[in-house]
Amino acid sequence: MPFVPVISPQSPQALAIFSLFTHVLILSAVIFVIVAGLVTYGIVRYRARAGNAEPRQDFGSRRMETIWMAIPLLVVVVLFVVTVRTMAFVDAPLDPGRSPDLIVTGRQWWWEARYPNGAVTANEIHIPASTRLLARIEGGDVIHDFWVPQLARKMDAVPGRASYIWLETDAAGTFQGTCSEFCGMQHAGMRFVVVAQPQGDFSAWVQHQAEPSPEPAGGPAAEGARIFIQDKCSDCHAVSGVTLNVSRGPSLAHLADRKLLGGELPNTAENLARWITNPQSIKPGNHMPDQKLSVGDLRALVAYLAGLQ
Ligand code: CUA
Repeated sequence: MPFVPVISPQSPQALAIFSLFTHVLILSAVIFVIVAGLVTYGIVRYRARAGNAEPRQDFGSRRMETIWMAIPLLVVVVLFVVTVRTMAFVDAPLDPGRSPDLIVTGRQWWWEARYPNGAVTANEIHIPASTRLLARIEGGDVIHDFWVPQLARKMDAVPGRASYIWLETDAAGTFQGTCSEFCGMQHAGMRFVVVAQPQGDFSAWVQHQAEPSPEPAGGPAAEGARIFIQDKCSDCHAVSGVTLNVSRGPSLAHLADRKLLGGELPNTAENLARWITNPQSIKPGNHMPDQKLSVGDLRALVAYLAGLQ
């Protein structure tokens, strides 16, 4: 995917931020050209050389000093007004009376999204296109920062304090997100995506996520389901129909529906097996222990997880 999210806004909020950025950039560029031009002119025109007399001195000119102060003051006032206007437009209201449409929690080092119907997912947040969602941002352990450059402002995810942002876009598509506050060893590994889809598709998705996955009929997947409980994977990872309330590790509910593992790896059986075999090889520092599974148990577990439709 091309890395141009900052200059490709896909929501009214991101567009407002981008517009503010470009206006400030242009204003700053004009000021820079004027100041640098005058300095250059002064250096060249009045440099020490034969025939150059001392330039005319106007030290103590009240009129000049007033102009020098008024112009920067005006610039600062303009910047202040346009910034405050953009902030007011971009920010979601801090309204405890309105319940959020989804709750996003930053954890070391992944993102959890919970929906009012009980659906829970990790690192792949779905939203309906053309609908404005109120997202509550929280920190699960340390301070993280939720940032999807194409869709919204950054928002700190602070433990014990709820913050709110709007999440909306008219464009169906997948948008890259990342953590923007240093939060530990895998800060840079806190990648995630926001998937905006047509309302019908989203409704079907969120309803499906809340439903239990079908029980494996037999074979390795059924054995894997047993190992998932017996080896205590279920103590940390949510799975629909097993438990949805644990948040120590990323939700694995309907894992087979996701395109990515850990927000960056293609969701394939091989990558899943790699992860389980050596959890520290892909995201060093993450809190998952090596369960030291036998080859047979690993195969069964992967079959179970890869089948969580
Ligand atoms: Cu989480 Cu940086």
